[in-house]
Amino acid sequence: MESNSVFTTLVMPLFNALGSPYSRQLESLVCSLDPQLDNEDPQSFLDWLLQQNEGNNLPFGTRCLVDTGLGQVLGVGSLVPDDRGAAVFLQAHGIKVDGLIGGIQIFRKVPGLSQVRGLGLGTWLCNHLDREITAAGGGRWALMTDNPVAARIYLGIGYCSVDLEYGGERVFVKKYPR
Ligand SMILES: CC(C)(COP(=O)(O)OP(=O)(O)OC[C@H]1O[C@@H](n2cnc3c(N)ncnc32)[C@H](O)[C@@H]1OP(=O)(O)O)[C@@H](O)C(=O)NCCC(=O)NCCS
Repeated sequence: MESNSVFTTLVMPLFNALGSPYSRQLESLVCSLDPQLDNEDPQSFLDWLLQQNEGNNLPFGTRCLVDTGLGQVLGVGSLVPDDRGAAVFLQAHGIKVDGLIGGIQIFRKVPGLSQVRGLGLGTWLCNHLDREITAAGGGRWALMTDNPVAARIYLGIGYCSVDLEYGGERVFVKKYPR
């Protein structure tokens, strides 16, 4: 894994890190999201991603999944201290979290690859973030989603649904060993 001033980038056998040129590319990719299909307003999602990187220490921040062969960002995921007030909400319900996984997004298509989802990349990215949390000392982490495909991934890495919703999305929590 390598770091640059804006994003932490992931390295994997086929998916490698190139660094800062991706912040511009990410902007155009995020803005090509479909608000109806992806349930994201592209500009506010991009703003959210950039904001997560301001003034945070590791492990917080956004990771880009990069295919160096194509020279493309294929997806993003973030570790954040709070996600739109969810940490405060959870604490009020007796669940104090050390951080949240948020902003998981595998882009629908990128130049040179017409289908990016369904290839196991979302699972790979979440497994990577899960290992990073463990390496950073674990604790209790949470996330929210209303997407059953995402929920399947989160259940697979040990997150459990709790009887709470935030912003219309189901809340999942995992307690990592310390
Ligand atoms: C959710 C998302 C990250 C999944 O990424 P992905 O790379 O397509 O997922 P994967 O290929 O790793 O597939 C994960 C699992 O879901 C299954 N799956 C993938 N796409 C599916 C679909 N359209 N319908 C049903 N199952 C599907 C896969 O078979 C896999 O199951 P398995 O573990 O039993 O093999 C991606 O669809 C996305 O970015 N969605 C929009 C944003 C979003 O909802 N993010 C999460 C919000 S917190």
